[in-house]
Amino acid sequence: MSTPKDDLIATGRRTISPNYAPAPIVFERGQGVWLTDSEGNRYLDFVAGIAVCSLGHGHPQLSAALSAQAEKLLHVSNMYFTKPQIELMEHLTDRSFADRVFLCNSGTEANEAAFKLARRYQSRVADRSNKSTILSMKSSFHGRTLASITATGQPKYHDGFAPLAPGFEYLQFNDIDAVERRMDDDVAAIVVEPIQGEGGIRPASEEFLHTLRQLCDQFDALLIYDEVQTGVGRTGSLFAYEHFGVKPDIMTLAKGLGGGVPLGATLATEEVWKGWKRGSHASTFGGNPLASCAGQIVLNVIEEQDLLTNAKQRGEQLRRGLQELTEEFDALKEVRGVGLMLGVECGAQAKTIAKSARQQGLLINTAGGDTLRFVPPLIIDESDVAEALQRLRAALDELNL
Ligand SMILES: Cc1ncc(COP(=O)(O)O)c(C=O)c1O
Repeated sequence: MSTPKDDLIATGRRTISPNYAPAPIVFERGQGVWLTDSEGNRYLDFVAGIAVCSLGHGHPQLSAALSAQAEKLLHVSNMYFTKPQIELMEHLTDRSFADRVFLCNSGTEANEAAFKLARRYQSRVADRSNKSTILSMKSSFHGRTLASITATGQPKYHDGFAPLAPGFEYLQFNDIDAVERRMDDDVAAIVVEPIQGEGGIRPASEEFLHTLRQLCDQFDALLIYDEVQTGVGRTGSLFAYEHFGVKPDIMTLAKGLGGGVPLGATLATEEVWKGWKRGSHASTFGGNPLASCAGQIVLNVIEEQDLLTNAKQRGEQLRRGLQELTEEFDALKEVRGVGLMLGVECGAQAKTIAKSARQQGLLINTAGGDTLRFVPPLIIDESDVAEALQRLRAALDELNL
């Protein structure tokens, strides 16, 4: 006999667009690092909506502020200012290299804006209309709109979508010689993730980012950091570029910025923003007071509760535990990442291990096909990390790896 949950899942499977294949779980609520499904089963959430729920689930300050904002004002468009939007933009510019912010609703939109800004800056401000090429990295991920999939240096995301956007080329990530060989006067911008996320949690080398900066300066190109996954405290600093000491000209954010409410941002220096005039670009929903309120609370809580230190300390604890498991289980090869953005390479077994972990009540997913990804909420405590490691061990034991 089918249960209400079975019926719900059958309806979901019949009606959801075929690009998704959700696990057979219907989540109903969350508290902190824990999610509860429709049958009352609890899961420790180290996926966090794919590095999104930075304050975990049901955070009291975020929930209260969003309820209050929803009662006051949801949306007015960018024809007018709102206080949450102004406060969010001020917070982001105060804490970063940037002077101005374009607010939008997702990572791919933030990247589209970055590409349009870079090209228009080159053609209209610097008067270099020969400069339109955007160099991106192999194994990168920049989103699913047409320019963003084109920038994404992974052919599987391009399959069947030709013709792609013109003017993008790919370089080997962390290969200094390759960039030095390719760099020329036609390059408008280089886009790079300081730590590749979807590509398998692979940090850029400091030397690589320094070389990109130096070559961009030498060839009048702009350096774009896609910090959609690494930004907003995930790595233990507010932005990952702070670990490397190399500033970009443009940076994109999304994911953790809204703590679960759709919110993206493109940040840049005053000089680069000269590329856009009134009407050059827009988003109807971008920066609406509800989403901006979420962003503002996320940034405030990160500061007030020193979640950057927490991300560093809990990241270290998790890294140590994963390292120990790697020494014990042959299937686990290498631990990579920074702060609370960690990956464990484990070859073709990755998906099987993630599924077994789920059966043990631990949610993790895979990146790059061969790497387990750990991106829990920034609010996790010592016992949550210990619990996750214990459940992962149980999953590995169960598989006899
Ligand atoms: C580095 C990076 N850029 C862009 C994106 C696209 O973000 P969104 O799915 O919000 O469009 C992602 C999503 O995984 C990402 O990891």
